[in-house]
Amino acid sequence: MTTTREPILSVRGLEKHFPIKGGGLLQRTVGAVRAVDGLDLDLYPGEVLGLVGESGCGKSTTGRAILNLQPATAGSVVFQGRELVGLDRKQMRPLRRDIQIVFQDPYASLNPRLPVFDIVAEPLIIHGLTKDEAELRERVRSLVETVGLNPEHTNRYPAEFSGGQRQRIGIARALALEPKVLVLDEPVSALDVSIQAGVINLLEDLKERLGLSYLFIAHDLSVVRHISDRVAVMYLGKIIEVAPRDELFDRPTHPYTQALLSAIPLPDPRLERSRKRIIITGDVPSPANPPSGCRFRTRCQKFAGELTDTQREKCLTVEPLLESRGTGHTSACHYAEATKVL
Ligand SMILES: Nc1ncnc2c1ncn2[C@@H]1O[C@H](COP(=O)(O)OP(=O)(O)OP(=O)(O)O)[C@@H](O)[C@H]1O
Ligand SMILES: [Mg+2]
Repeated sequence: MTTTREPILSVRGLEKHFPIKGGGLLQRTVGAVRAVDGLDLDLYPGEVLGLVGESGCGKSTTGRAILNLQPATAGSVVFQGRELVGLDRKQMRPLRRDIQIVFQDPYASLNPRLPVFDIVAEPLIIHGLTKDEAELRERVRSLVETVGLNPEHTNRYPAEFSGGQRQRIGIARALALEPKVLVLDEPVSALDVSIQAGVINLLEDLKERLGLSYLFIAHDLSVVRHISDRVAVMYLGKIIEVAPRDELFDRPTHPYTQALLSAIPLPDPRLERSRKRIIITGDVPSPANPPSGCRFRTRCQKFAGELTDTQREKCLTVEPLLESRGTGHTSACHYAEATKVL
């Protein structure tokens, strides 16, 4: 969705660096894992922004830093006009109501010792949102129903539910405080393909009904293509391309985006056989020591192939910034060029 409204969430120059400690008694800091390394993004009211990228590129760290679950090293996160970076737990508490997170692993993120009722009721109790026991029961019942579970089963424990049902419990808990934004960190990646669609449909339905906005983190591009209004592509701690969904899939301009898309199988076997795959060579560089200039250059098919030495020099020395490639479309490559790969 392209919109002229103000973003509900605006992230600028976000950094999350984890110190690397040396050996020995003093445990001196000898370096830093730059998991998020200068990240900008905007989330608009009512939209789904997909955030994609390879394992280890910093997607989850971005989600946690936005919610202040792991405080940012630097940068700014403005949510509904308020700066979140630098707030302590107590200051965050009232804001927590409006921005919630759903984690990938519904096995690890739900307390196995609590029945579902307590899991869903906990945020309501902590924030004192219900006036008595009867209202609490009614609220939990309605939340559990909202996510498509049987409200008669709230005395059961997480282990008694399937993966998909557990993820629904996680969603019910996240919805308890009536948030405006959900950060969904790979909400269906741990689920069987056969039950992913049900949870995705639920999320789409909830978004419409409750007027939510989603930052939807995933590595499965077909899921992202289905659910997102816009897509942001992340590489080694930074956003390297953002565009409205169809624009990104039809006219990717960054060589990394092009390579990611070229790995999606085409439904037509004839086209599939004749299409060219762009193979990304080599491993992801260490986020403790990202390459100079363009951080993608060590794996870039353009850098390895068609560029002249003078052009390569720029990739080696000058860090590319996100620049406009069309309406709502930006990418960070000195030699960006829209190319159809799907
Ligand atoms: N608490 C931590 N301490 C040190 N390094 C960390 C910590 N958490 C994450 N990292 C490192 O930060 C980088 C980004 O990790 P992150 O989990 O954010 O990636 P991701 O994109 O979510 O990956 P995945 O797709 O596998 O979930 C990785 O190199 C990871 O090892
Ligand atoms: Mg992750």
